[in-house]
Amino acid sequence: MAKKSNPEMDMSRIPCHIGIIMDGNGRWAKKRFLPRTAGHTQGASVFKSIARYCNKIGVKYLTVYAFSTENWKRPQDEVDAIMNLLRRYLKDSTNFKSENIKLKFVGDLEVLPQDIRDLIDNAEHESENATGLVCNLAVNYGGRDEVVHAVRKLAKKVKDGELDADDISEQMISDNCYTNYMPDPDLIIRPSGEFRLSNFLLWQSAYSEFWFSNVLWPDFKPKHLDEAIIAYQQRDRRFGGV
Ligand code: IPE
Ligand code: IPE
Ligand code: MG
Repeated sequence: MAKKSNPEMDMSRIPCHIGIIMDGNGRWAKKRFLPRTAGHTQGASVFKSIARYCNKIGVKYLTVYAFSTENWKRPQDEVDAIMNLLRRYLKDSTNFKSENIKLKFVGDLEVLPQDIRDLIDNAEHESENATGLVCNLAVNYGGRDEVVHAVRKLAKKVKDGELDADDISEQMISDNCYTNYMPDPDLIIRPSGEFRLSNFLLWQSAYSEFWFSNVLWPDFKPKHLDEAIIAYQQRDRRFGGV
């Protein structure tokens, strides 16, 4: 069960959209002399518990980075294991439906194996009427790839005479991103001691607050999310103003 939230946390100022770079699975496994895939399995279970906790405390959008456009570089057996975990999770995702969590996917899904794409369509369809947390899984997601896709769509409109190049706006780029149905992330969390975005939500994170931790993702607990939210609540977001 999710733990009770931290009393220091202001429940009236919970960030609307939290992004999490779920990193450190491999190192978690290595420390235990386990194969890297054991870290991914544990990481998937932590994802479910953190999504449930976000739903409980009133986060509206959670976007988790599960597989990047660069992660295909990994050894084939690791990529296969991650895809199998995704399959297993998707076959099980009706779990979330009874919890009022809406499941969505962001990324270039067209290159995923067809059976996974069917499972994704099904999972999104099954949870589409949920009114609680919108939980976005970033799979084959890359921020640069996303901008390239958006620019291509706009370029086609210019070519077809539907759009004047001078009228291209920031809003149009946002509207053509995979994330077009959600606000920009307020808070981005990266565990595992790395201080980089690794191509996560590049366009959307222009004014996000960042929170880093040495905890490896498979060890991440609701209390760490509380810590991140409390730190976020102490920040002064100026958006370029004074
Ligand atoms: C994150 O954990 C999961 C994916 C990128 C799929 P890693 O597998 O990157 O774990 P480390 O960074 O090697 O410890
Ligand atoms: C970012 O982690 C991608 C995901 C968590 C899915 P990586 O482990 O791939 O990032 P780098 O290689 O350390 O930058
Ligand atoms: Mg990593």
